[in-house]
Amino acid sequence: STQIQAALPLTGKRILVTAGPTYEAIDPVRFIGNHSSGKMGFAIADRFAALGAEVTLVTGPTSQISTYELNRIDVVSAADMLEACKAEFSAADITVMSAAVADYMPVTRADQKIKKTNNEFSLDLKKTTDILATLGALKTNKQLLIGFALETENEEEYAKAKLAKKNLDLIVLNSLNDKGAGFKKDTNKITIFNKAAEKTVFEMKSKSEVAVDICNEILKLL
Ligand code: CTP
Ligand code: CA
Repeated sequence: STQIQAALPLTGKRILVTAGPTYEAIDPVRFIGNHSSGKMGFAIADRFAALGAEVTLVTGPTSQISTYELNRIDVVSAADMLEACKAEFSAADITVMSAAVADYMPVTRADQKIKKTNNEFSLDLKKTTDILATLGALKTNKQLLIGFALETENEEEYAKAKLAKKNLDLIVLNSLNDKGAGFKKDTNKITIFNKAAEKTVFEMKSKSEVAVDICNEILKLL
């Protein structure tokens, strides 16, 4: 009922979340991808929906299913995800970029299946557009933008640099070093940094519990 909706903290707020990997086509049957399951992004989208928000979820290829009624937009490549995010961003009060976007894509996509003619074969790659940095440059002072960082060394320094460079309000550092955290797992260990360089360390938790922690940190900024 409307009474129940009005009691939820994010009623009327519009949230954009990205999830999953991107696939960059090499030829009609092959692509460059990564091991992202989409679980973290779907858990965040679901948590925001549970809080009453109107959620748009832009997702790469995944087997995840949302338990809430979301505006789900399925995409394949980083270029597709950029296009969908640019179309949705201005309407979003809060954007959370949890997708594992490919950093490089093939310079050309072969029209036909590439044959194994040569003993050696190399592929020319070029950088994809940084979606998060693009949105950071478009952000107004009424919007919040949250990114992720995946590092294997100098975690804190690199995460803080991404926060500043991409004009973010929060960055969620994923610690891959800890057992049980990261891709394909059901658990995650995160540290969140804000613009004041304040650091909040969280215990290893299930991805749905991590989503609650991330949403709580975002709610503190509203
Ligand atoms: N990201 C993005 N578009 C890209 C690459 C990354 O929007 N083309 C976003 C990711 O969704 C994540 C953040 O940028 O929220 C950081 O991703 P990460 O891979 O940790 O950092 P990069 O900036 O890609 O730098 P590097 O991989 O070299 O560490
Ligand atoms: Ca990257």
